[in-house]
Amino acid sequence: MSTSDGNIRAIRELVGARGFSAYVDAAVERQIQRDLPKKAADRFQLMVSGWAAGAVGRLDEERAGVGVTPLRAFPLPSGWGVRLWFKDESVQPAGGLKHRLARALFATAISDGRIVEGTPVVEAAGGAMAVTQAYFARLLGLPYTAVMPKGANGEGVERLGGTCRYVHPPLAIYEEAAGLAERVGGCYLDQYGAAPGVDWRGGSLAEELFGQVDRCPAWVVVGAATGATSAAVGRHLREHRLPGKLAVVDPENSAYFPGWAAGADDYGTGMPSRIEGIGRPRMEPGFAASLVDLVVPVPDAASVAAARRVRQVTGLAVGAATGTNLWGALELAVRMRDRDEPGDLVTVIGDVGERHLRTCHDDAWARGKGLDWRPHAARLADLLDA
Ligand SMILES: Cc1ncc(COP(=O)(O)O)c(C=O)c1O
Repeated sequence: MSTSDGNIRAIRELVGARGFSAYVDAAVERQIQRDLPKKAADRFQLMVSGWAAGAVGRLDEERAGVGVTPLRAFPLPSGWGVRLWFKDESVQPAGGLKHRLARALFATAISDGRIVEGTPVVEAAGGAMAVTQAYFARLLGLPYTAVMPKGANGEGVERLGGTCRYVHPPLAIYEEAAGLAERVGGCYLDQYGAAPGVDWRGGSLAEELFGQVDRCPAWVVVGAATGATSAAVGRHLREHRLPGKLAVVDPENSAYFPGWAAGADDYGTGMPSRIEGIGRPRMEPGFAASLVDLVVPVPDAASVAAARRVRQVTGLAVGAATGTNLWGALELAVRMRDRDEPGDLVTVIGDVGERHLRTCHDDAWARGKGLDWRPHAARLADLLDA
């Protein structure tokens, strides 16, 4: 008896035991006949080659090699009674916070048997996520294709041995990536769809952060793209019954602030965020609104001003999303100061890169986007330099 015969019998028994055997029609059976041999073969390969175990081991080793990313103090005026820390994700090998989710997406897909040795991996992503995934694909010896909007820059992916496919209109990237994966027998990583069920294997920002603070922060402040990072923080706070709260900072045009405020899980703005790495045109399934204590809307020009402030203080060419984090964290710090509630806030340096010198740190870029950051910079100076 072949493996698939045995499995078909087991499925029949299971279905029968639930009283549905009469409804298992020929179409379902054909589907089982078609799909099962491939799945069984994949599992067999997984067991025989041990590739999956080796690959997950390599991902764990890679994480151990990076170690715990540092907490850096951001100076606030003495007398506030509030300390602000940045968890510095710029030290990640591919340059930012997306490293954690990319690693977890690969580990989850391997554990689920969706990636086996040699599986072509496909994702709908441009920018840092595509580059980071290309890094992990190379580490695991897997072919990688990023489907990105026409006009996006795929150089970083290609430098790491990946391939880029450009499509138009931008929203077509998801369908194209799913279709391409299907056609080549590959795995569509699907960061937005997979985020709610991702297995961090201990590598989430939350697990690391709460192990390195000397007291629970009053607030943890993060941005949201897939929502996975904020959900991990919110879940950790609740599961460990910690007294801290979770704030998500959200740029203009993003659906998270209005969707959270209105309690509407299907809220959509249809508009892309101008702040690289965070904000989405619709509420994504990985965003766990019920775990979020507060969403702070941050004007884009304020994010730019605050990113410049972070660079001034740390010397790091951070992206605008790190500015969004600082702006939101300062709003909460002022609230704590005014209410005489001493404590700590932790937020994140999301990423650092030369390319940001040509965007949020560049006057001509800001002017071109209509982002007048100067009044916000003046507010920061009033607040912090007084
Ligand atoms: C700066 C910054 N903040 C927050 C996030 C959170 O992303 P996600 O919601 O996908 O976990 C990201 C993602 O890369 C980011 O770059």
